[in-house]
Amino acid sequence: MIAREIIDEILFRNEIEQVIGSYVTLKRAGSNLNGLCPFHNEKTPSFTVFPATRSFYCFGCGAGGDVISFIMREENLDYVGALEHLAARAGITIPTDDSPNERDTVSRKRVWEMNLAAARFFRECLFDPKYGAEGLRYLTEERKLSTATIRHFGLGFAPNDFGMLSGYLRKQGFTEEEMIAGFLCKRSEKSGRIFDLFRNRVIFPVIDTTGNVVAFGGRVMDDSKPKYLNSSDTPAFKKSRNLFALNFARKHADERLILCEGYMDVIALHAAGFENAVATLGTAITSEQARIFAKYTGQVVICYDNDQAGQTAAAKAMRLLAEVGVEVRVLKPDGAKDPDEYIKKFGADSFRRLLENSMTGFDFRLETILNRHNLALPEEIIQASDEVCRMIADSHSEVERDIFAKKAADRLGISTEAMKADVERIRRARLRELKKKESQAAQLSLKSFGDRINPDAAKNIRANGAEETILGLMLLFDEFRRGAADGSVGLRSEDFLTGFGRRVFDVLCELERSETGFSKALLGQFFTADELGRLEKLEIDRRNLARNDREVLLAAIDALKKEGETMDGNDPFADLRRKQAQAKQAKEQKNT
Ligand code: UTP
Ligand code: MN
Repeated sequence: MIAREIIDEILFRNEIEQVIGSYVTLKRAGSNLNGLCPFHNEKTPSFTVFPATRSFYCFGCGAGGDVISFIMREENLDYVGALEHLAARAGITIPTDDSPNERDTVSRKRVWEMNLAAARFFRECLFDPKYGAEGLRYLTEERKLSTATIRHFGLGFAPNDFGMLSGYLRKQGFTEEEMIAGFLCKRSEKSGRIFDLFRNRVIFPVIDTTGNVVAFGGRVMDDSKPKYLNSSDTPAFKKSRNLFALNFARKHADERLILCEGYMDVIALHAAGFENAVATLGTAITSEQARIFAKYTGQVVICYDNDQAGQTAAAKAMRLLAEVGVEVRVLKPDGAKDPDEYIKKFGADSFRRLLENSMTGFDFRLETILNRHNLALPEEIIQASDEVCRMIADSHSEVERDIFAKKAADRLGISTEAMKADVERIRRARLRELKKKESQAAQLSLKSFGDRINPDAAKNIRANGAEETILGLMLLFDEFRRGAADGSVGLRSEDFLTGFGRRVFDVLCELERSETGFSKALLGQFFTADELGRLEKLEIDRRNLARNDREVLLAAIDALKKEGETMDGNDPFADLRRKQAQAKQAKEQKNT
């Protein structure tokens, strides 16, 4: 199986808008994109791409999922095939030759020792004019780093040679098996010999909070691809559980931490005196990393690149961080492409001012919407206001909605009362919509021909409704999924009455408890493209209404258990009674 960290990287490098946009003509509609569904015939677009959640859904035919499921469907590939397709598209090579035994038999301690030796080797090369002249020139002249900064971060240089590092490590007593397991070398399929992976790159060691060198990033010195080569997960390293420069930043985390995208951003910030900056390691932020932030600080300032991709990623990071309860701010390095360039252009004081004026999560989303509209035109004000109201309507706190509405109305030059009235109207409409959908779904499954994906749904409509709510919330919120997996919400596989529901529950719990942890991107191994579409729908239906709503979850669990009690599997008449109840319900529905 492909490693979780590679899958994360594949997703990170394949923006869903761009991938789907190369198959479907997409038009922006608010924060989403619409187009004609490629999976069924239609004249009006019901196919929607949601950049914020990196997913798509067709309200016409029920196709849906992430970018992987899109490719599964569109290119008619299985899960692994779709991943390979996307990896190729992004120029990522999927490692195949480090066999599981090589990984398993090598201890973490050995990899740490070997990495330390490798870091020394890289550093010596950087300062050795025979090998590292070009690397040193790149870092000092092109990237304007001082020797002190280079030494502080332990930067190095991997010479342009296939065997120097392995030769050095061999002399220090490390085996080929260890070098492969530690992602420093690879075995050539042709010759059977090993060769160094990092070549002709400047090297950024990743050091964990206990001081171990756990991984390396290596950057080319020109425009060749890939720009960075990063260690894959090894016995001593999990990309999703580490942050670059946290070893330094944790000592400066009292007030806040700054989250950037790149190694170079972090280094530039530290050099300018912002030693509380960290970065993820070539992937979007994970929920594990969000928890690390929560452990060290109460506030995180997200400072991503000033492009569309960076700002979309910022929105996602904002959600993950908010979920673990840290206060989130967003800082846009206006006038530069990233924080590194910003500091170079405008200096540390200017950055400090940006930091002090960084936006709250609400302000960030508000500005994002306002920026998309020309507020000199009344109809654009109306559009912007509608989008803003929808966003405010997401909030479950009345006080919060009140404060947000005041602020937004002010920015848009309209009255607070009008704004608040619109927000409440949207909330009521959403509630009606949900009720309508539920009864439609119920009617559809009553006729029992409706549901190919979950044929059992028709047998117990109420149980299925409760199951869908539970599973939708488990998909949406880490907290609920964790609670289900560790048993603390008191729900078991046997409580599920439909086969599909039970299978989804089992897979979610299993993934959550697994070494790699849960990721939506992993679901394609377990479900067909049609089933993935259904899972997407479960989320979509609950995204607006039940934002992290514990009560909704508990009520659904309660309802499901009640259904289970009345439907005793050993009761020979259970089936008959169920049919009678269905007939009665059908009659009632007809009458209303
Ligand atoms: P950037 O392309 O913004 O790089 O990617 P950067 O760090 O700002 O580097 P410079 O300033 O161009 O030299 C941000 C981060 O994404 C990961 C790296 O962690 C990088 O720091 N990345 C980027 C990769 O892992 N692989 C790539 O090919 C590109
Ligand atoms: Mn950058």
